[in-house]
Amino acid sequence: MAKATLSFVCQNCGAAYNRWQGKCESCGEWNTLVEEDVSGASSVPASIRSKRKGRLFALESLAGESRDAPRLPTGMAELDRVTGGGFVPGSVLLVGGDPGIGKSTLLTQATSVLASAGHRTVYISGEEAIAQVRLRAARLGLAKAPVQLAAETSVEDIIATLSDGETPRLIVIDSIQTMWTDTVESAPGTVTQVRASAQALIRFAKKSGATVILVGHVTKDGQIAGPRVVEHMVDAVLSFEGEGSQQFRILRSVKNRFGPTDEIGVFEMTGLGLREVTNPSELFLSERDLGSPGTAVFAGMEGTRPVLVELQALVAPTSLGTPRRAVVGWDSSRLSMVLAVLEAHCGVKLSGYDVYFNVAGGLRIQEPAADLAAAAALVSSLANAPLPTDAVYFGEVSLSGAVRPVAQASMRLKEAAKLGFGRAVLPEAARGDSGGDAGLSLNPIGGLSSLVADIAARGTPRAATRDRGADENGGTHATASGKNAAPPRFRRQES
Ligand code: TYD
Ligand code: MG
Repeated sequence: MAKATLSFVCQNCGAAYNRWQGKCESCGEWNTLVEEDVSGASSVPASIRSKRKGRLFALESLAGESRDAPRLPTGMAELDRVTGGGFVPGSVLLVGGDPGIGKSTLLTQATSVLASAGHRTVYISGEEAIAQVRLRAARLGLAKAPVQLAAETSVEDIIATLSDGETPRLIVIDSIQTMWTDTVESAPGTVTQVRASAQALIRFAKKSGATVILVGHVTKDGQIAGPRVVEHMVDAVLSFEGEGSQQFRILRSVKNRFGPTDEIGVFEMTGLGLREVTNPSELFLSERDLGSPGTAVFAGMEGTRPVLVELQALVAPTSLGTPRRAVVGWDSSRLSMVLAVLEAHCGVKLSGYDVYFNVAGGLRIQEPAADLAAAAALVSSLANAPLPTDAVYFGEVSLSGAVRPVAQASMRLKEAAKLGFGRAVLPEAARGDSGGDAGLSLNPIGGLSSLVADIAARGTPRAATRDRGADENGGTHATASGKNAAPPRFRRQES
């Protein structure tokens, strides 16, 4: 009998330790180490392993014949865009996301569409009873779709059942954390179990040619193994994101061996399930707060698609020793960098202010091209100066305060023109990039300080209006008189 090898395994990242400790040194999470038997990782006994002779296999040349991977498109355009044109047979996808974000809903819809088109699809739920899955399908109006359903958690049973009869085209395992296999001793949900179960299902997918989708919950509190341990084993990792309170959901490809990794699919959660959003810009701009300071429209790119989105900033005097910096939808270190550049090169004093930053609609922006729009929103809020409502902004800000060109300027401009914007503030170097024929008036800028000067010239300093109009109502503040147009907080720079 093999001796049990006990190890303390981090449930977040999978790192193993000999002793228990409070913090995982590999990923920095606290209280995530759980004692596990890791001996099952190699199920072949050592005696057999050492005696076994290797089998010869043929080596191939790089130049050999290669077919383009045939795809199984679902017909849900937003999903197909993210997978790179449909599911590849024999591939395994991991769909991760917070609990309740809509993973089961999305996959119920996808399996139903494929099943209705005549493909054999199987939905295995380890979390919900069959009745619950049926109820959801009924709510989605998909109860008639010939999806094959099971509530099972044993990987061996599942693989045996799936191997019987015609190979399914698509198998959904909801979720990988509930699966368990006999080959390892650990409890379901632990890293060892999740890894071993995923391995077995991946082997099945490769052998049978079925596409397997593993659902994985991302939880903060380390009790359930993060699907991160599975990420390197699967062919694609899709993350389903969104703010719980908002109805927009974004499917993003984080890793994809068969397609692009920067595409997003946008959905809206309605009472009847997820609806595809074909023009996300319209959605993200639908509830714009026109004419209020602190908002700027960023002309961004998500993969091959331009997406316009509103950036919102609130800069308010702080009552704390260390001012607050709160960011939703953007990288907080990127915000710190823009703040530092504003402070160092443009004379904008922000150290006495709390800064709150938000990307409207629940989108997460990852491009550096958002720097300029973010800076515009921040300065606009500080100077209490609304930006022109028909302007879009894009450009990368360098540490020297210069505004750098970004890729695909013409596509950004075309999208802005399509949505009725009249002008664009963009890097100087992008001027020649066929923006003219998009019909926008271009305002190229070379440095961040000229943007700050422009906005400051439009503004009414908040502090000054408060002193002056303490007993008036706020409405009178909107028009800046020439005299106090230069806010005291800006050191004017001659550039
Ligand atoms: P679900 O797909 O169960 O989330 P997950 O599998 O990621 O945990 O979806 C959960 C939420 O979606 C739930 O709070 C209710 C909501 N929802 C709708 O708003 N409309 C619908 O038609 C359905 C099926 C769910
Ligand atoms: Mg679910």
